[in-house]
Amino acid sequence: MEDIQSCIDHLRKELARHNNLYYNKNAPEISDSEYDSLVKELERLELENPIFLSLNSPTQKVSGFASSSFEQVKHFSPMLSLDNTYSQEETAKWYEKVEKKFENKNIEFTIEPKVDGLSASLIYLNGILIVGATRGDGGTGENITENVKTIRDIPHKLKIKNPPQLFELRGEVYIDKLDFKKLNEEIIKAGGERFANPRNAAAGSLRQKKSCITAERKLSFFVHSFGKINGKQFKKQSEFLLYCKECGFQLQKDFTICRSLKEIANFMDIMSSKRDFLQYEIDGIVIKVNSLRLQNELGYTNKSPRWAMAFKFPAKQATTVLSKIRVQVGRTGIITPSAILEPVMIGGVTISHATLHNFEEIMRLNVNEGDTILVERAGDVIPKIVKVIKKKSVGFFRPPHNCPSCANKIVKENEEVAYRCINPECPAQFKRHLMHFVARNAMDIDGFGSAVVDQLLERKKIQTLADIYRLTYNDFVALKLFKEKKAKNLAKAITESKKQPLSKLLFALGIRHVGEKVSEIIARKFKNIEVLFNANIEDFTRIPEVGEVVALSLKEFFENKTVHNIIDTLIAFGVNMIELETQTTKNAVFKNKVFVLTGELQDCTRRKICEIIKSLGGRVASSISKKTDYVLAGANVGSKLEKAQKLNIKIISEADFKAMTAENKN
Ligand code: IVH
Repeated sequence: MEDIQSCIDHLRKELARHNNLYYNKNAPEISDSEYDSLVKELERLELENPIFLSLNSPTQKVSGFASSSFEQVKHFSPMLSLDNTYSQEETAKWYEKVEKKFENKNIEFTIEPKVDGLSASLIYLNGILIVGATRGDGGTGENITENVKTIRDIPHKLKIKNPPQLFELRGEVYIDKLDFKKLNEEIIKAGGERFANPRNAAAGSLRQKKSCITAERKLSFFVHSFGKINGKQFKKQSEFLLYCKECGFQLQKDFTICRSLKEIANFMDIMSSKRDFLQYEIDGIVIKVNSLRLQNELGYTNKSPRWAMAFKFPAKQATTVLSKIRVQVGRTGIITPSAILEPVMIGGVTISHATLHNFEEIMRLNVNEGDTILVERAGDVIPKIVKVIKKKSVGFFRPPHNCPSCANKIVKENEEVAYRCINPECPAQFKRHLMHFVARNAMDIDGFGSAVVDQLLERKKIQTLADIYRLTYNDFVALKLFKEKKAKNLAKAITESKKQPLSKLLFALGIRHVGEKVSEIIARKFKNIEVLFNANIEDFTRIPEVGEVVALSLKEFFENKTVHNIIDTLIAFGVNMIELETQTTKNAVFKNKVFVLTGELQDCTRRKICEIIKSLGGRVASSISKKTDYVLAGANVGSKLEKAQKLNIKIISEADFKAMTAENKN
């Protein structure tokens, strides 16, 4: 029993500490889902051992408090929290409980995205904004009236005739993803410490002593609920929201009404696929019984209404230990660090690596091997380290003096952030070069993966890029894990790649500063590699998209003897060296992009969507693979979505697809 008590005490203390970090310092040490699971664990222990129940427990009261550095405001009616779940089953349990209470009478639910900001209360007297307050401990909040008045979405006067005498409404103050990014950039420039996420940025900006600072921060606001109202009655949450719109508030575009669990699940799917495309962060959806009479009958616990439930997305962040900083050499010799992590689950995917960008980023984060860190998996980017939670290491991680592949001395060029291995014969660089040459957007040699390259290099089968075309079926069939069919396919892919247009070849050759786009422009302009060999700097700079740096790099490349030899060999093997006059690529916005369609599409038939994709240069595949660029998800999507998420593939809705195609119509 003592053990249980000390466990409960420990959890309560930990939760109090995390509440302080989250609500007061705006610098949480754990992710929301890690916090929620601590609360769930405490709830479980208290339920199994009710003698330890206490009204002071974080499970029984609204988290947060009103700081004494602000004037305090007592809310007319308490500002509660929301019960939350991360699972379909628990959502279903709550839904069925509500249905049962009302004997399965067709109940309406409103669904709103759960905006990731902080809640604020606004009090309007006869239509005039009198007080703005934070939630605080739910009963008393902090007076931030002058600060909320700087938020453009909050009217100082309700735009409606005969406003209610008292109108206490609540909503979420948040910051757009773009404004968040800009704010952090400015903070870093000024030498400050950046906010870990948009919620913290919104909270830190709203709880400012000087409202002129809040005004600079570009905060936004959505209404989601109300407190005390005198002089106006509503029957439904949806009616209240629409009234707020008339009053001059912004409503979320994705607000909807559902009448079944299936509709709710569909909406959740849609929102999770749209999440990364919204201008602001959302962390789930909020399901509310629409009828205010039924809400009243369901009532409240100490902490939250029984008529609402937050159904949250799987976590994006988690804490883990950075076990090693690995240093790799890129195609152009740039040395980049990356983090190897103790594996941790984020949103159903095991994460064991994170990007560190460059050595400056390591300094900025002040991170080193052994430290406990907060890692985030956001959208389609590789996981990144948000911040250090607990330092174990002493001293800074220093960039290596020698290349980890060829041991040559590493240099840092002038003002550049990057450290570079400048040995042209560095094996790691050559391997990256090969991988780039065969990539899908270059020579597109399917099946020529990293393991194949390793084996061929080990067997000394490739010394220059052109040696790829010397390889035959016999070389492949001798490789590990290669059978006849695989070897045949690879040999065929190499032969096929000889037909790639000049633009692809130029890009594949990996000319410094010459990316995909410039390769295309140059190929279209010069049409033949012969002409490129004879071009001078002016011929290049005459092209509007080509600056001096690119022109110099091109000139240097085509003057190089080794390049001449490689190109001669490629020509001898029959590799195409010209750019054919192709159909206009002006509108080919989906050029080489692979789409997979899944779920029930509402607005267009599948055939129509396939046609649009093809007409814009893309391709539609039937199953998801690493090669998929976009998954277009309709309603009732199944396991495909999970697979796409695991592979970090962009998931888009029909509306997003329309927006993407509309943007590019001319
Ligand atoms: S309704 C009685 N609707 O989530 C509680 N809350 O985790 C009424 N939130 O404190 C709140 N989006 O700050 C509601 N569409 C939404 C919301 C929302 C975000 C916040 C709100 C609340 C917190 C609970």
